[in-house]
Amino acid sequence: MSTPGFVRRDRSTIRSNSCLRDDPCTLHIRALRPGMVKPSRLVRPVTQIPERSLVHQEGLPKLPVPPLKQTCERYLAALEPIVSEEELEYTRKLVKEFLTGGVGERLQKGLERRARKTDNWVDIRELSTCSSLTQRRLLCRFAAKLIAGVLEFKKMIDTDTLPIEYLSGKPLCMDQYYQILSSCRVPGPKRDTVVNHTMGTTPVTHITVVHNFQFFVLDVYHSDGTPLTVDQIYMQLEKIWNSSLQTNKEPIGILTSQHRNTWGKAYNNLIKDKTNKESVRAIQKSIFTVCLDAPMPRTSDELYWSRVAAQMLHGGGARWNSGNRWFDKTLQFIVGEDGTSGLVYEHAPAEGPPIVFLIDFVVGCMSRTEIVRTPMVPLPMPMKLRFNITPEVKRDIERAKQNMNIMVHDLDVKVLMFSDFGRKLPQQHNLSPDGFVQMALQLAYFRMYNICCSTYESASLRMFKYGRTDSIRATTTGSFKFVQAMQDPAKQNTERLALLQAAVQTHKENTYNAIHGQAIDRHLLGLKMLSIVELTSMPEIFMDTSFAVAQHYNLSTSQVGSKTDCVMSFGPMVPDGYGVCYNPMDEHINIAITAFNSCEETNAAKFSRAVEDALLDMRALLEDTAMVKQ
Ligand code: COA
Repeated sequence: MSTPGFVRRDRSTIRSNSCLRDDPCTLHIRALRPGMVKPSRLVRPVTQIPERSLVHQEGLPKLPVPPLKQTCERYLAALEPIVSEEELEYTRKLVKEFLTGGVGERLQKGLERRARKTDNWVDIRELSTCSSLTQRRLLCRFAAKLIAGVLEFKKMIDTDTLPIEYLSGKPLCMDQYYQILSSCRVPGPKRDTVVNHTMGTTPVTHITVVHNFQFFVLDVYHSDGTPLTVDQIYMQLEKIWNSSLQTNKEPIGILTSQHRNTWGKAYNNLIKDKTNKESVRAIQKSIFTVCLDAPMPRTSDELYWSRVAAQMLHGGGARWNSGNRWFDKTLQFIVGEDGTSGLVYEHAPAEGPPIVFLIDFVVGCMSRTEIVRTPMVPLPMPMKLRFNITPEVKRDIERAKQNMNIMVHDLDVKVLMFSDFGRKLPQQHNLSPDGFVQMALQLAYFRMYNICCSTYESASLRMFKYGRTDSIRATTTGSFKFVQAMQDPAKQNTERLALLQAAVQTHKENTYNAIHGQAIDRHLLGLKMLSIVELTSMPEIFMDTSFAVAQHYNLSTSQVGSKTDCVMSFGPMVPDGYGVCYNPMDEHINIAITAFNSCEETNAAKFSRAVEDALLDMRALLEDTAMVKQ
């Protein structure tokens, strides 16, 4: 498959030698709906006295390398529900050889050496996305308030007053927050780099705004260092809007949607020209980008959120807003003329949770912001960035358009706004909401395919310095027994409930292990990568069918919780898989499901119905058994 989809492009092409993991997560947000602010689980209230985050950073423990024997045992246990007995027996032999033959021990020692020498032995890159509002004036007002909100957030970064987050009572690494402003991914000849301009000698004072494919530099600070007021930003946005009304411009930004190798070459063609180079650099350096999007084609109410999710992910194709982006830019806030809003983010510098914290914070600011009429100080016209379109660049743009359209058509997106219950229901039944949703995904998959698959769930490793994520393997022997029981008419509900409780409990234990640095996937990946460097041949354990099955995540999932009622989305990890991002709110659950249209076996809408049915059947199970107990 040449072009499996937008999201895979980004995850499979981060060319970093030190990158031990290439995680999928992209996310988008549905609606910036002010007024729905509830305390976050991860975030300490802002009113608490902030701690010096740099001092805090130094005190964080280093991510441990788990014991080799433990990872091997857990790996075999993870394989049990997803491979045949024959394959498992063979893998058991390989694992034994790996453990006792010296190879595993040698690689383990190598990782431990790396762990001693570096701050974090797993080095990571990822990618991502997020998504509501109205006509031009309202749009510019909305965008101005949004920009002012992000500048408020920036103040916390600049003054080091960001509240430290906690997970299970432990303080988290805050480094990712310092990587998301004034940063951009830059294509390189061998590998991409993420360049962060916050540390430069002269502070960056501008953002970039793109409208009708035309980019502008908007200075958002006065010369005395104070930020522009909402009113002033609004006036500047109006100027930008009015000077970019032509709709026949080359969609230069679409170049950034290309496969990284292709974009790397096109990038060199583009920046050969001095003007182009300066324009690109202005985008890369900018604090963030705001995309003022053209209206998208209307859809039925039922498909509305799925359409918005897709717009946030890829812009809808060359005809629509895909050229109204610079996909390498870490943060791009999208405000559509038709009332949509959200953001798309480049995943390399950060995971979803810091981005969601930013969204929650900005939404909070926007709901408080009152437009104060400020004295009319003359502000310079925002500078339009010029691009010289040589025949070579024109050719690259045409190719990028074609490729983007293929990817857009291939991505199947379905947003399920599940409104029957939220995270409170499992909690009332003494079940972890995350485990409950994961078991619903297991049940849905089993009902559709009659087998279990390898399932990835992101777990935060931020208890550790520069920690990113590891995988919670949600498919377990326990989950397999539960889904089988649900499909077996001979089983009683009391037995099904007991199996559900056991499976959720195992999921909780696996989550605990993962967030405490004791999961298996980063460890196995680290051992494999080191074997490439240090050994003449790859240990058989990594060439085994079981290993390939275990790495083939048909379900790539992630919980990204927020205070704001929003939807996040990302693409599948494998051509025949699903990407599932869910946000369990108290009384409802927002779920975005993606798949590839080029795969006949997958269908996002069908899977969405199966998930809905699974959630409802599991509620019925809880209620039925609760009635029996009474
Ligand atoms: N009975 C009642 N309540 C329970 C319970 C039970 N048996 N088990 C858990 N709960 C409560 C929890 O205490 C928690 O309450 P709180 O919100 O008041 O703290 C709430 O239910 C949610 O817990 P749970 O659903 O178990 O999940 P979690 O919040 O621990 O999150 C992960 C689990 C894996 C999502 C989280 O650890 C994590 O790693 N998040 C980051 C993931 C990430 O990085 N994603 C983005 C990748 S781009």
